[in-house]
Amino acid sequence: MEEDIDDARERPGMDETVQSAGDAYRAESPGVAGTSDEPHPGRPFGVGIDVGGTGVKAAVVDLETGTLVSARVREKTPSPSTPDAVAQAVARIIGRIEESGHRTAQMPTGAGLPGVAKDGWLKTAANIDRSWLDVRAQDVLERHLQRPVLIINDADAAGLAEMRYGAGTGQHGVVLMLTIGTGIGSALFVDDRLVPNTELGHLEYHRRDAETLVSGAARERRKLGWKVWAKEFDGYLDHVYRYFSPDLVILGGGVSKETGRYLQYLTPRGPLKVARLLNSAGIVGAALAAAEAGGYRPPVSAGASEIVAEG
Ligand code: BGC
Repeated sequence: MEEDIDDARERPGMDETVQSAGDAYRAESPGVAGTSDEPHPGRPFGVGIDVGGTGVKAAVVDLETGTLVSARVREKTPSPSTPDAVAQAVARIIGRIEESGHRTAQMPTGAGLPGVAKDGWLKTAANIDRSWLDVRAQDVLERHLQRPVLIINDADAAGLAEMRYGAGTGQHGVVLMLTIGTGIGSALFVDDRLVPNTELGHLEYHRRDAETLVSGAARERRKLGWKVWAKEFDGYLDHVYRYFSPDLVILGGGVSKETGRYLQYLTPRGPLKVARLLNSAGIVGAALAAAEAGGYRPPVSAGASEIVAEG
């Protein structure tokens, strides 16, 4: 079993907020940490879980700031990635987080999964074992974690996080987030409201399912250099702009960490930003979605990032 505690170094300032084992929080009421002598008294916290085709990761999230307050603990996605195997990995990860001093049982808990997520079920499974379609995902995770768990599409979760705390902050109109990693995920927002499960990674492109040609994993599988991949991805992006005329596109997922290698080859028809929360977006958004389902509303943040390309 591969297990590592990731220090979330990509996120500037993250190290300051990661709690060491000694900095235990005591949840006095659901999702609210601590007593007044603790580091962030009364802050609303949630647990975010991000199940991807490659890794399963989770952390405790400060919902006011969208930052991680525990280490981000990660395991490789089990193979085969059956519901029980994945849920066991998630339970081990939460166990590790608990061991480091975070009491998570009362916190709102959300899990982003790579498929259409509806009423606690996963309705599609392109990058995860197909046996997920036979069981109610929410029930499996709740059984293993012994608490209520909200299920959301992984890209929708990442998009929510970027809209609330990252590159999409304060942006109205039509915003489209694309996560480019093992697959291509999409999250569509209209005036800040999510249109869930858009699945634009499966648009037809060159008579193929787009993500099989231009996802991050496809780039590696096809052994494409960044320039060649970027030009193909640019064609896909062009389709997306034609269909949706977004006011902003946010690029996220693993490939968004490598923008220096390909951004110059993209010719977007409109404003394009790179995600700010990078590897943490899915975790933060899943925790936020669970908290919001319970009535929580985060304060308006002012952390929007720069437009990096414009058509
Ligand atoms: C799935 C999406 C998911 C994306 C990124 C696609 O294959 O169909 O639901 O968001 O991969 O994980």
